[in-house]
Amino acid sequence: MKITSALQWIGDCQGYLELIDQRVLPGTWSKLVCRDTAQLWQAIKTLAVRGAPAIGVSAAYGLVLALQQSKATDACGALKDLIQQAHYLASSRPTAVNLFWALDRVRRSAEQLVADQAQADKDALLAVVFAEAEAICREDVVMCQRIGEHGERFIGEGCGVLTHCNAGALATAGQGTALSLMFEAHKRGRSFTVYADETRPLLQGARLTACELQRAGIEVKVLCDSMAGWLMKQGQVHAIVTGADRIAANGDAANKIGTYSLSILAREHQIPFYIAAPSSTFDLSIENGQAITIEQRSAEEVTTLQGVDLVPAGVGVYNPAFDVVQASDITALITEVGVIEKPSAEKIRDHFSRSK
Ligand code: MRU
Repeated sequence: MKITSALQWIGDCQGYLELIDQRVLPGTWSKLVCRDTAQLWQAIKTLAVRGAPAIGVSAAYGLVLALQQSKATDACGALKDLIQQAHYLASSRPTAVNLFWALDRVRRSAEQLVADQAQADKDALLAVVFAEAEAICREDVVMCQRIGEHGERFIGEGCGVLTHCNAGALATAGQGTALSLMFEAHKRGRSFTVYADETRPLLQGARLTACELQRAGIEVKVLCDSMAGWLMKQGQVHAIVTGADRIAANGDAANKIGTYSLSILAREHQIPFYIAAPSSTFDLSIENGQAITIEQRSAEEVTTLQGVDLVPAGVGVYNPAFDVVQASDITALITEVGVIEKPSAEKIRDHFSRSK
């Protein structure tokens, strides 16, 4: 059975957000209900919902929850509450730009209604915000599908593909970004092996990617992150495909910690390195990857595993959640619009201006 999506809105604009609780996968499949922004903030912070596109779509629905909980009686007052809650949700995690992109997009649609219709009431505002969140969710599904269609040709018959973290259905509202290429190649009858880095410290590769691929009937082998270089040396990896959390105007791409090391290994072994991401992951306001804020997470993620201590008490910890791959080490970026080979600022600008 395939996993269809990390999240689902239940009901109409008075409904609520239901998430697959990814903290307890693959052992337990449980639903986490978010009926207010505080619950959603916590879910994002603790990675119950995670992956750049899924965080963005969830946050968009979070602004529907923000309006539901607003005590304001008119649209202007409700808009103020929405803006405040957008700032609050934006403070949950700093790196994936999809979060800020989705919040901005929903906020702008709300501001537009209030600017156009001074007499609009709170219900009208709620309807507009809900429609925008639904549109963001629907578009994400389509973007994932197109990314897969544009990139499936990079997954050849009989090849070994390495991936890191989880960029599948659990990371989006659709069938994923990096994994979408694999699902589409599989659909076309190709057989190949996916090597899934376990992805310490939170094991998104072992727990989530392996689970998604296994359910889809794709051969998957999990390896510890430190084994990837040796696997490449043995000639078992023909392509590396990952997702991204933020891509700068020049193509530098932030993704889960460990992706940078893979890009250097790929260069050394002359293995093509692909990054698959929707346009909502591009941050064209920043020139390069140096401007990307890297989330630092708690020491406990490194020092303990399921309640067991792995590190002597009192020892310091380094735990950045992301790193940045240089554009010059990326063979191609794959978006819903198409493929950007050897990405540069100029090519990225052209790519998106052609799609308008
Ligand atoms: O900390 P996470 O699990 O949210 O990190 C997720 C990743 O790094 C993914 O690779 C990225 O968001 C792309 S998801 C399509």
